[in-house]
Amino acid sequence: MAHSDDTRTQNERSGGLIRKCLFPVAGYGTRFLPATKAQPKEMLPVVTTPLIQYGVEEALQAGMSNMAFVTGRNKRAIEDHFDVTYELEDQISGTSKELYLKSIRLLIDQCTFTYVRQTQMRGLGDAVLTGEPLIGNQPFGVILADDLCYNAGDGVMGQMAKLYEQYRCSIVAIEEVPAEDVSKYGIISGDEMDDGLIRINGMVEKPSIDEAPSNLAVIGRYILTPDIFDILRATPKGKGGEVQLTDALMEQAREGRVIGYRFKGRRFDCGSIEGFIEATNFFFEHVKPAN
Ligand code: G1P
Repeated sequence: MAHSDDTRTQNERSGGLIRKCLFPVAGYGTRFLPATKAQPKEMLPVVTTPLIQYGVEEALQAGMSNMAFVTGRNKRAIEDHFDVTYELEDQISGTSKELYLKSIRLLIDQCTFTYVRQTQMRGLGDAVLTGEPLIGNQPFGVILADDLCYNAGDGVMGQMAKLYEQYRCSIVAIEEVPAEDVSKYGIISGDEMDDGLIRINGMVEKPSIDEAPSNLAVIGRYILTPDIFDILRATPKGKGGEVQLTDALMEQAREGRVIGYRFKGRRFDCGSIEGFIEATNFFFEHVKPAN
């Protein structure tokens, strides 16, 4: 079949098992006030590309083309971003500036976007559960756009999607963090099963240094099997009075069904000012120069 006649989406062509990626984007972004007073933190640009667009690009590269957003109030800019802007496009059509819209147009053409609102902030676990109607009964990716990942080859989600084909269980991206930072993350323990792969047997959400079972932190990339929804429904509030995804994953881990993956690439904590600046400098120099 000639390429131009091939109307299948990229993941259908690649035959990937995972079609959908969930983006919890309801959080307030108070650390970036006043910038986030009237716009979502996920729309803050690293150089010229909003954080959320990097996440969607990574999901698409992993073969997922159905982007499912759990949004909240004041997040409309995200929906507008992944839609056509006729006036603007009409105005710059045929000029050299058209090029600047190329990356976003590519996503709009190749992906579908669905949205559901989380009405109260009850934690990441609750956000994922809120996304259930958009996902249904199939394995899915989760990307937290605050964690901006970069790898020159396969992106982190792409690396994880390949692992899923082999192991068919939940997979979380992990990274070593300094001891003083363990209280910012879900921290895991487990047994090395293969190079870079750990069969997880313990997970604690944001432990103190003394409670932390290791310095291996979960970062914002997950592949989850759909039984996570039933588990989340039964998960009581945990750390901070919120329903924690970490606690639900621990239920799967008890049955040996969660793998921690030391991903290849770099990750920037764009939920912090320092990480955001670091990402900006790195992307400006190495990845996406300004227009
Ligand atoms: C969430 C998770 C935490 C994980 C982190 C990765 O925390 O609850 O387990 O380590 O994302 O960024 P948050 O940063 O949303 O507080």
